[in-house]
Amino acid sequence: MQIAIVTVSDRASRGEYPDRSGPAIEAWLTEAISSSFSLVRRIVPDGVVSVRDELISLCDQQGCDLILTTGGTGPAPRDETPEAMREVMVKELPGFGELLRRVSLEQTPTAILSRQTAGTRGRSLIINLPGNPASICICLDAVFPAVPYCLDLIGAGRIETRPDKVETVRPAPQCATAAR
Ligand code: MTE
Repeated sequence: MQIAIVTVSDRASRGEYPDRSGPAIEAWLTEAISSSFSLVRRIVPDGVVSVRDELISLCDQQGCDLILTTGGTGPAPRDETPEAMREVMVKELPGFGELLRRVSLEQTPTAILSRQTAGTRGRSLIINLPGNPASICICLDAVFPAVPYCLDLIGAGRIETRPDKVETVRPAPQCATAAR
């Protein structure tokens, strides 16, 4: 099980300020996942090409099961993570963006500005998170219960979570497409 954390930020990639959202994701994963996994960490500048090329490499060359991006989802000129996602995803999973915006709106009205989404490419699941480190816990708490089952369905590695932190939902086999 390989999980990649991709921080998308011009300034963090130039070393002008420390990446804080990437480490926040890492801390959350370490607390929530009980099965073994290895981490790949990347910091890339904003932009369709930089984000697209990194995501494709993590999916197709590196074989990452799960990729979590942070940043570049807003409306500013350099925010192009969703445009890159469009070039990378084979199947979009719009429910992730819908839920992420819904829970984030409880934290801040500006959550409406995030164009975050999620999607699959082969056996990789990519999920976008906002760039604010304070958004990471609320976002991962909300969507992660469905992540292990999504990984099962696409033939990626298996994740087990600590039940006190994340209650993973795996439907009974008779309901699962994979078991038909
Ligand atoms: N969601 C949560 N939970 N918390 C936040 O602070 N910030 C919002 C939004 N979603 C935020 C959030 C803001 S201000 C913006 S501009 C968008 O995410 C896009 O942020 P990004 O470009 O860093 O991805």
